[in-house]
Amino acid sequence: MMPNYLGLVSGVISLVLWSQGVTSHVVLCNTLTANQSMYCSCDLDGVDEARRISCFVINPLKPDDEVWKGFARQSELTSLTITSQPASSSLEFVPTEAFLRTPRLQELNIKQCSISELPTNSFVHLEHLSRIALENDEIRNLRKHAVSHLPRLTSLVISDNLIEALRAEALFDLPRLTFLVLDRNNISWIDDNFFLHLSNLMELELWNNKIQHITPYTFNGLKSLRRLDLYKNRLIKLDNYVFSGAPRLHELDLKENRISEIAPNAFHGLFSLTSLHLNRNRLRMLPAHVFRGTPNVMMLELSNNRLESIQRNVIEDLSRATDDHFIMYFRNNQLKCDCRLNWVEEYASLAKYLIFKKELHQMQCTQENIRVTKRVLDINFDDFRCLETSTSSSVTFKASVQRANAIEIHLYKRTEDGENSLFEATVSTSSENLKNVSNMQPHVNSHRPLELVPSIERNENSAWCVFPVFHRTIFTSIALVFQKIMI
Ligand SMILES: *[C@@H]1O[C@H](CO)[C@@H](O)[C@H](O)[C@H]1NC(C)=O
Ligand SMILES: *[C@@H]1O[C@H](CO)[C@@H](O)[C@H](O)[C@H]1NC(C)=O
Ligand SMILES: *[C@@H]1O[C@H](CO)[C@@H](O)[C@H](O)[C@H]1NC(C)=O
Repeated sequence: MMPNYLGLVSGVISLVLWSQGVTSHVVLCNTLTANQSMYCSCDLDGVDEARRISCFVINPLKPDDEVWKGFARQSELTSLTITSQPASSSLEFVPTEAFLRTPRLQELNIKQCSISELPTNSFVHLEHLSRIALENDEIRNLRKHAVSHLPRLTSLVISDNLIEALRAEALFDLPRLTFLVLDRNNISWIDDNFFLHLSNLMELELWNNKIQHITPYTFNGLKSLRRLDLYKNRLIKLDNYVFSGAPRLHELDLKENRISEIAPNAFHGLFSLTSLHLNRNRLRMLPAHVFRGTPNVMMLELSNNRLESIQRNVIEDLSRATDDHFIMYFRNNQLKCDCRLNWVEEYASLAKYLIFKKELHQMQCTQENIRVTKRVLDINFDDFRCLETSTSSSVTFKASVQRANAIEIHLYKRTEDGENSLFEATVSTSSENLKNVSNMQPHVNSHRPLELVPSIERNENSAWCVFPVFHRTIFTSIALVFQKIMI
């Protein structure tokens, strides 16, 4: 009797499997039969037993290939890796249907395949899925809701693909996502609010893409973000408040972009920021108080830019500058020897961290008129006639300059924006702009001493209109007068 019973039971089972369109003869694990398109190695051989499966695609695979049916016998599967030979076009889609048979999947890796697009709901119904990695899969497009409705997803890696744009809602309903990695793609566009719902994201990797433009809405909603990596992109400019959507940021990596301009409030609100990398960009100047919003920075990288100066307010706003491990790098810039560096000596003695002390001791600048590079600490700032400002709305240069044949005036202006925060811009005047002053310059052969450089008149249209900004008392050096003494 017993054998008959068993026969009946197995007959019913096969009937059930058959009626689900599943052929029970497909053996997924550790077998390689002729013409099979994918070889899978499993941690356990038996039906419904493997927890971890790693498959290698040998021949081009279609969505209706028999091999997918083998997953029906692997309902306990928690980890699946599918790898293909690079550039062999062997797997061109996400096997969404196979996943219907593996409801306990927690970890999915697909590597070196040729999936040009992630369609809507590519991984839907995988309630336990916590990690997805799609690396080097030639993915170009993420459809709306491509990765969506995954309540336990914490890590999503789509590295080394060909994605060009991040369109709104491609990632949707991923309430636990903490780690999003999109490095080495071809991303040049990010829709505003793309990350809006990722309020638990802690780390966002966007390095090695072609991002040129970010707005105050780009990172909107990233309330928990700690680390943002934009290394090696093509950013040109940082507008005001561009990072205000990520107020918890600890580390911001902007190195190796093409940033030549930073708005005064670009880093506004990043109170927790401790590490800021701006090296290898094209910065010529830093607006006044650009780091006012980031008082807790302990590591500031400014090397390999074109900075003409690092003015006193930069260091003064970094309130940890004299803390134990504070470090700031500024090598390979084009620092000029002038009044703006007159803070260096003071901080070289205040600095506690030996490496920072050393940086300051070795800091160099170039003295333009004689084209000599010097150590900043060797400069005698008395030679530079650093002028202090007054509260008046005009600045008078009582330059007791004898026989000058040229005068160059640099103005560091401070003004107020809509939100009452002060900022400063460096204005370098050309001789055309400096009509009033240049009018007063003696001719080359004149031996008449120049006694008084007149007030600079307000001119609403000129680029270096300074008067609206001189009515505040709280600032230090505003003007420098260099003279080239006639021989
Ligand atoms: C092997 O696969 C090819 C195409 O994938 C098919 O045309 C052929 O009939 C298969 N042969 C066997 C023995 O299954
Ligand atoms: C990257 O994107 C640009 C358009 O932004 C496109 O011209 C280029 O071909 C893409 N590169 C690759 C490798 O697909
Ligand atoms: C400065 O220039 C303005 C316009 O160019 C002129 O009106 C003004 O009188 C000049 N001031 C002096 C002191 O030369």
